[in-house]
Amino acid sequence: MTGNHPPVTDWSVDFDHADPTYAADPYPIWEEIRGRGCPVAHSDRYGGVWFPATHELVSEIAYDTERFTSRSVLVTEGRPLAPAPQGIAPPISSDPPFHHGARRLLLPAFSPKAIEKLEPFTRAYCHELLDAVAGREVIDGAVDYSQHIPVRVIAKMLGFPLEDADTFRKFVHDVLESVDLPIERRLENFLELDAYLTAQVEDHLAHPRDDLTSFLLDAEMDGAPLQPEHVGGTIVLLLLAGIDTTWSAIGSSLWHLAGHAADRQRLVAEPELLPLAIEEFLRAYAPVTMARLVVDDMDFHGCPMKKDEWVLLPFPSANRDPAAFDRADEVILDREENRHAAFGLGIHRCAGSNLARMEMRVALEVWLERFPEFSLADPAGVQWSGGQVRGPRVLPIHVG
Ligand code: HEM
Repeated sequence: MTGNHPPVTDWSVDFDHADPTYAADPYPIWEEIRGRGCPVAHSDRYGGVWFPATHELVSEIAYDTERFTSRSVLVTEGRPLAPAPQGIAPPISSDPPFHHGARRLLLPAFSPKAIEKLEPFTRAYCHELLDAVAGREVIDGAVDYSQHIPVRVIAKMLGFPLEDADTFRKFVHDVLESVDLPIERRLENFLELDAYLTAQVEDHLAHPRDDLTSFLLDAEMDGAPLQPEHVGGTIVLLLLAGIDTTWSAIGSSLWHLAGHAADRQRLVAEPELLPLAIEEFLRAYAPVTMARLVVDDMDFHGCPMKKDEWVLLPFPSANRDPAAFDRADEVILDREENRHAAFGLGIHRCAGSNLARMEMRVALEVWLERFPEFSLADPAGVQWSGGQVRGPRVLPIHVG
C-alpha cells in the first residue's frame, strides 16, 4: 500500500507517481510507457491523472498555457480552491497575464550577480557540515550533507532564523512528499506552515531589513504593492521550490559518483569538467515532475482529457527520451549537446536555476576536495523520495 492507495499493477492504466516502486526505480516504467503506441499513461487515481512520457509531448503541454493551467502544480486528491489570478504560490501557480509580472519581479534576486554573492557563505557552510562528521567512515550524503545546504541558503536569503532549518524541512516533506495523505491532514500541515510564515512576515514588517522577505513586502506590480497573499505565496514557493529540488539534485549527483568510480576519478582529475557534469546529472537524474490541470474537455492526441483532470509533466522522463537525447540512459560527464528539461520548459522555467547550479557546484567541489575517494556503503539501503520530487533521502557513503 502507498498511504491509502493500493500498489500499481498496470502502469499504463493505473499510473501512480506516489507508488514506492516508482520512487525506487522509475526508468523501466518510463521506457514501457514511451514504447507504447500511445505514450501517455492514465489513471483514475487523484480524480484522473495523465502521464505523457516523451520529450515532445511534455514540451507541447508545458508551452500550452491555454489548454493546461498551472492553478495547481501538485497532484492531490482534491482540486485547489486557489485565489485567482495568482494561485496559491505565484508565479508557479499563475497563468498569463498575471504570471508575467509575478515572475519578473523575482528575477533580480536570482540573477547571476546576486547569486555569486552567496557563494562564500555556501562554501563555508558545506565545509562546516563536513567538519561536523569528520572522522566517520560512513556519512549519509543525504541526511548529513545535501539536505542542509539549500535550506540554509534560502533561509539566509529570506532573512529567516537559520536555526529553523528543521522546521522548513518538515514543511517541505509534508507538502511535497506526503501527497497521498487525506486532504484534511494536508490542510492541517499547510496551516502550520502558514502560521510560521505569518510570524516571519510580521517580524519583517516591524523590522524591515535587507533581505528577500523585505524586498517582496516592498515590491510593486503594475504600480501597486503586492497583496499579502501574493507575498506569502511566493515565500512558500521559494521554500518549497528551492529546498527539496536542490537537495535531491546534490544527492543524486553524489549517489552517481559514489556508484561509478571511473566518473568520480575523472572528475577529481579534471575538475574543469564539473559544470558540464552538473548539467548531465541534472539531465539524467532530474528531480522535478510538475503538474497542470486540464482547462476544458478535449482530445489531446487521441487522449480524451476531461476538465480538471491532472496532467503530470515528467521532465525527468523527457530527459531520458532516446528521441531527444543520444544514449539517453547513459551518463556522459562531458556531454556537449545537452538541452535538458530539468528546470522545466516554457514560461515557468525555473527562476532559481542560477542558485541551484551554484549550490550544486559548490556542494560537489567541497565534497570532492574533502573526499576524493568514496563509494556507496550500502547500495541496497539507499532510499528515494516519492511524489513529484525525486532524490535520495537515505544515502550511506563510505568515505573512510
Ligand atoms: C536543482 C534544483 C531545481 C530544479 C530541478 C528545479 C526545477 C524547476 C522546474 C521544473 C520548474 C518549472 C515548474 C513548472 O513548469 O510548473 C521550476 C520553477 C521554479 N523554480 Fe525551480 N528548481 C530547482 C531549484 C530552485 C531554486 C533553488 C529556487 C529558488 C529558491 C527555485 C525557484 C523556482 C521558481 C520561483 C519557479 C517558478 C517559476 C515560474 O513559475 O515562472 N527553483 N523549477
